[in-house]
Amino acid sequence: MTKTPAASAADPSPSATTNEATAQIGVVGLAVMGSNIARNFANHGHTVAVYNRTTAKTEKFMADFGQTGSFVPAETIQDFVASLERPRRALIMVQAGAGTDAVINQLADAMEPGDIIIDGGNALYTDTIRRETDIRARGLHFVGAGISGGEEGALNGPAIMPGGPAESYESLGPLLESISAKVDGTPCCTHIGPDGAGHFVKMVHNGIEYADMQVIGEAYQLLRYGAGMSPADIAAVFREWNKGDLESYLVEITAEVLAQVDADTNTPLVDLIVDAAGQKGTGRWTVKAALDLGVPVTGIGEAVFARALSSATSQRQAAQGQLPSGQLSPAVAPEDREAFVEDVRRALYASKLVAYAQGFDEILAGSAEYGWDLDPKDMATIWRGGCIIRAKFLNRIAEAYQANPKLESLLLDPYFNSELEGLVDSWRRIVVAATQQGHPVPVFSSSLSYYDSLRAQRLPAALIQGQRDYFGAHTYGRVDRPGAFHTLWSGDRTEVEA
Ligand code: 6PG
Repeated sequence: MTKTPAASAADPSPSATTNEATAQIGVVGLAVMGSNIARNFANHGHTVAVYNRTTAKTEKFMADFGQTGSFVPAETIQDFVASLERPRRALIMVQAGAGTDAVINQLADAMEPGDIIIDGGNALYTDTIRRETDIRARGLHFVGAGISGGEEGALNGPAIMPGGPAESYESLGPLLESISAKVDGTPCCTHIGPDGAGHFVKMVHNGIEYADMQVIGEAYQLLRYGAGMSPADIAAVFREWNKGDLESYLVEITAEVLAQVDADTNTPLVDLIVDAAGQKGTGRWTVKAALDLGVPVTGIGEAVFARALSSATSQRQAAQGQLPSGQLSPAVAPEDREAFVEDVRRALYASKLVAYAQGFDEILAGSAEYGWDLDPKDMATIWRGGCIIRAKFLNRIAEAYQANPKLESLLLDPYFNSELEGLVDSWRRIVVAATQQGHPVPVFSSSLSYYDSLRAQRLPAALIQGQRDYFGAHTYGRVDRPGAFHTLWSGDRTEVEA
C-alpha cells in the first residue's frame, strides 16, 4: 500500500507528508473494537494513526472510514510510531493473550523514553503488572486500560479504566476522557491507579456483570416457569422495571432480547437459543482473585458456576428425568401473579445489591493487597455510563462511598440499608417459592445466605474450629479471653494455651 498521508474529512486530498508526526493517538488492531475506538477518536477531532498486522485490514478500514476523519494509515509498526506526536501514545486493541506481548515488544522497540503504550484489551491484571514493570525498565510508560461498553460503546462512548503511572495520565487522560461516555458532563474515565489497577477494576466490573446477568436470568426463569408468563409479557415487565430502581443497560437489553421473535419460526427467539452460556474468562478471574484475596464474592462465583453448569451438556443430558424432584409446589396462580412479580423484582434488586457490595469489597481488598489506594467512589462514578453494568443505582453507590469512604460494606450504607428493609421479606418469599417449585436460583439464594451470614450473631465456624483443633490441633480462639487454645482431645480433654 503506498503510504498515504493523513486524509481529513474537510480536505480528502492528502495534506501531511508521509511519516510526519501528526497523530495524537494511534490504534493497533483494527477489528471491530479497534476500528470503532479509532473512529471515536477521529470523531472527536483527533488525528489517529491506524495499523493492523494484516495490511488488508488497514486498507479496508481506510476504504470504509478514511474520509470520516483524520487518519494516518501505516503499513509497518515503524511507520505507525513515526506518525505519532511526542510523547507517542499507542493503544493496543488486540485479543488479550500472547499476541499482546508481541505487539508491546514491537512498539517498545520502535518508541522512545516517555512514550506511552496502552493495552485496551481484557488482559489479566497480573500480566499488566508484569508488563508495566518491564516497559518502565525500558523508559516507557505502560497503561493497562479496561474499556467497557462493547462495540457500540467503543464507537459512541465507553467507560474507560486506565491504570499505569499518574504521569502518563497527564497527556493520555484528556484524550481518553474526550471519547468516553459522559454522565452529567462527567467523563466515564478516570485514572484508576498504578500498574494493574485498571485491568483489575475492569475484571471486577466483568465479575459484577456476570452476577447482574445471572440474577436477571433467575428473575426471568421464575416469571417464565414459576408464573407461566410469556417472553413478551416478561419483556413488558422488564421495561417497567427499567423505569425504577433497576434502571440499567442490562435490564433494558433484556426487554429487547425477550421481545425478539424469530422471523423463520415466529417463535420467541429466547426459546430457540441454546441454554449454554459462554464465558471468555474475566468472570472466572474475578473469582480466582477473590479466593486468593479471601473475599466472599458468592454472587459472582455462583454466576460463573451457573454458566459452567449450563454448558455441562453431557452431564445435564444424563440427568434429564433421572433426578427425583421431590414434592413440588404448583406454579403461581394468575390472581397471585402481580404480587409475585413485585416479589421477584425486590429479590432481584437485593441480590444485585449483594453482588455489587461484594464486587466493591474485592476492589478494596485488591487495592490493599497491591497498595493501589483505590477510591471506590471513582469506580461507581465512571460506571454510571458507557459500561455494560451502567445503572441508575451507581449514583447511589458513588454517594455512599462519598459519604463514607471507609464503609465496611455497601449494605451498611444508610440508603441501601433502608432499601433492604423493603426488600428482604420478598427476597425470602422468592427463595422459598423457587425452592418449593424446583427452579434454580443460585445467586438469589446464595446472596440471601451471604446476607444472613453477615448479619448472624454466631456462625457455625465455631464448630469448624473445634473440628480443626480435634483432628489437626489447629487451635481456636475463645470469646471470653484472648489467646489461642487447644484441647487435648486424645488425652484427658483438658485445654491448654497454645
Ligand atoms: C464489556 C464486556 C466485555 C466482555 C465481553 C464478553 O465490559 O464491554 O464485559 O469486556 O469481555 O462482552 O464477556 P464474557 O464472554 O466473559 O461474557
